[in-house]
Amino acid sequence: MEINMELTDKHIVLGVTGGVAAYKAATLLRRLIGAGGEVQVVMTAAATRFVTPVTFQALSGKPVFVDMWDDRIVDNMAHIELSRRADAILVAPATADFLAKTAQGQADDLLSTLALARNCPLLVAPAMNRQMWENPATRRNVELLRRDGVICLGPDAGAQACGEEGDGRMREPEALLESIIDFFAPKLLAGKKLLLTAGPTFEAIDPVRGITNLSSGHMGYAVARAARQAGAEVTLISGPVALSAPQDVTRVSVQSALEMHAEVMRRVTDADIFVAVAAVADYRVERISPQKLKKATGGLPEIHFVENPDILAEVAALPNPPFCVGFAAESEHLETYARQKRARKNIPLIVGNLIQEAFGGADNRVILFDDAGSHPLLVASKNQIARQLIEHIASLMEKK
Ligand SMILES: Cc1cc2nc3c(=O)[nH]c(=O)nc-3n(C[C@H](O)[C@H](O)[C@H](O)COP(=O)(O)O)c2cc1C
Repeated sequence: MEINMELTDKHIVLGVTGGVAAYKAATLLRRLIGAGGEVQVVMTAAATRFVTPVTFQALSGKPVFVDMWDDRIVDNMAHIELSRRADAILVAPATADFLAKTAQGQADDLLSTLALARNCPLLVAPAMNRQMWENPATRRNVELLRRDGVICLGPDAGAQACGEEGDGRMREPEALLESIIDFFAPKLLAGKKLLLTAGPTFEAIDPVRGITNLSSGHMGYAVARAARQAGAEVTLISGPVALSAPQDVTRVSVQSALEMHAEVMRRVTDADIFVAVAAVADYRVERISPQKLKKATGGLPEIHFVENPDILAEVAALPNPPFCVGFAAESEHLETYARQKRARKNIPLIVGNLIQEAFGGADNRVILFDDAGSHPLLVASKNQIARQLIEHIASLMEKK
């Protein structure tokens, strides 16, 4: 488990209202706690008809509040007491009824009273039948809430519990977790466009064979996610990996170094920052066989290589380059090789890591090299390393 998780020290009131999607709130609660959040669950009376408070109590290890007149809170001021400690109130699922009440400032139960008495942001994840969502009254209420600064997460389109298809599904718990993490993350790269490469490349030999490497793409994907959390608009040019695209990141999938080069050069003039995390093949096969190569009867086959373009060096040499960050994955002499690579490519920042530690695993140990020298980071998960890297990039860009 990460020591410094993304929601550490964040107090969240999770409001659950009476919709079918209430069962998904239990998963959401687990995800929020898993990310380090301190979560207090408050349910409406209708919500308890779908899932009992016992479930949320067991998962959060805290009493669940439903009733405004609950005498477990001294002086009965639960509505003030619970929201005073909160950094945010997240209502998921949020029924049409809850949205209507909150838009009007009504406070006739504990959750709606908490929402009205809050001193922190309110986020809602609407969930309802497509017609309820499309009803002009609901549209009006959502518009009013947005104008009042309430953050509306979703809903998504798709199959509904009532058997219909359309807008109104609650966003999945994993997606809601990402939105909450984004919400709390400092917006160090707000307004910046970040382009990055990740994963390996695949250099074909024939239609079924090729040369690749063991880059999993995890580090690059973690950087893409951390940059988005920091408010950047992120485009990820990805080699073949078994990872889904991070939420709200534009992913362009490529195979070879030449394809990666073309996609980067097409987009780089627009970018403020370029981070080259991909493990790009230095060489490619000169002539890719259009047919599958047959086993040779006499002697061994010969493969001729030609050099691939050096994407990072080319970007760094542009007349008006973005802020360039490279990665050096070495099996030995990390400091020397990383420093040499930074100088050779003429880039302000390089991230050095040992391949024994970087490839495949969840954790990583890296050293950042810039004009000021070297900055070793503590061993940490790739997500944490990515966040620290984004902080470092932001601080260097600020000094420029
Ligand atoms: C089986 C069933 C499913 C319901 N599903 C939803 C739903 O998904 N979304 C919604 O807005 N209302 C739904 N309702 C209606 C709400 O439960 C109802 O409006 C209730 O008053 C909401 O109370 P609350 O907002 O205090 O939780 C459903 C009702 C029933 C009986």
